[in-house]
Amino acid sequence: MSFLHNKNILLGVTGGIAAYKSLTLVRRLKEQGANVQVVMTEAAQEFIRPLSFQALSGNTVHLSLLDPAAEAAMGHIELARWADLIVIAPATANSMARLANGEANDLLSTLCLASKAPLAIAPAMNQAMWANTATQENLQILQQRQVVILGPVAGEQACGDVGDGRMMEADEIVEKIQQLFSHQALSGVRVLVTAGPTREAIDPVRYLSNHSSGKMGYAVAQAALEAGASVELVSGPCALSADKRIRLYRIESAEDMLQAVHENLAQVDIFIAVAAVADYRPQQVAVQKIKKQAGSMSIELIRNPDILASVAALENKPFCVGFAAETEKLEQHARLKLQQKKLDMVVANRVDKSDSGFNSEYNSVTVIWDKGSKVFEKTTKSRLATDLIALIAGHFKQQKK
Ligand code: C5P
Repeated sequence: MSFLHNKNILLGVTGGIAAYKSLTLVRRLKEQGANVQVVMTEAAQEFIRPLSFQALSGNTVHLSLLDPAAEAAMGHIELARWADLIVIAPATANSMARLANGEANDLLSTLCLASKAPLAIAPAMNQAMWANTATQENLQILQQRQVVILGPVAGEQACGDVGDGRMMEADEIVEKIQQLFSHQALSGVRVLVTAGPTREAIDPVRYLSNHSSGKMGYAVAQAALEAGASVELVSGPCALSADKRIRLYRIESAEDMLQAVHENLAQVDIFIAVAAVADYRPQQVAVQKIKKQAGSMSIELIRNPDILASVAALENKPFCVGFAAETEKLEQHARLKLQQKKLDMVVANRVDKSDSGFNSEYNSVTVIWDKGSKVFEKTTKSRLATDLIALIAGHFKQQKK
């Protein structure tokens, strides 16, 4: 189910050419199950007829603050209270200035002042107007007030200019709005995450390990926290620090990680194994530093326990998500892992791309579950983590039903 299901979205349309894109926005929001009420400024009505918004939203469009008939149907204070979110798209330079100034001389600005709902705006204007110091200062004021800014994006403009100022496309706006609502998607849920590499001791000074930086796992833990979960993080050695609200257990080896995970598994609802656990460890750990000798030497390796599989095999297992680093046949290998380890979801990423994956700020993945998959294009690990948590939360809730 979409995070927008039954959410009340008040869409403010101001007077810019991008207003036509807001018709698509209404359709997309409705498709996601949202209830949509549209408020248009006078200037917006010069671009699009209210009737179009009425037909798509299924509700009479709100046009005036001082219309007794409209006030009798749903007064502006009632409308302000009704909204779970106010979205202004397009938001012109003028509407941003009026918001920053706290004006209340038309219906939309009054609603913004009267509502306690979060406010998101999708600016759309000529690139020079966007770059103008006045607009940028207004933007800063709005950002300081926690207004969510969606775009604008760069490209060719209706006036022929090229630059920043195009309104974000409807699909992307819907995605962002979903993320806003997914924020508390894990409230009351306990999440355990593993992250980073493991170190498998050879002797007191040497070990086997890998290039995992821990960034993806820490980002997933943070995203779960921001989604309202209580989060525990079992981390192999890495240079990262975690949010104070995350309970962090630092461990060294795969065996330590196995123990820490099972000790903290009680009442865990979702287990997300992001750690790059070493598959093998030296059979013997030398008590003293191994001295070099003439000729070659060999170290006998034995298999490490599979932590994720051990959790997924439990009778009362949590919702289990694994990560799969693959260099080829991504989906095929990941799907096999899903079945073999009895997982609910697998996040597969190609680790042979130098600018993505291991030790990078970026990642692109395909998430796979028994009946489907979803591709997440290359983005920062932190943004990806937020999207992954939204997806995981959705599937987790569906399974619990
Ligand atoms: O089988 P493979 O190592 O590719 O599986 C990767 C997934 O399994 C990751 O989620 C990783 O954290 C987890 N894993 C584990 N314990 C191991 C090996 C992998 O939890 N010993």
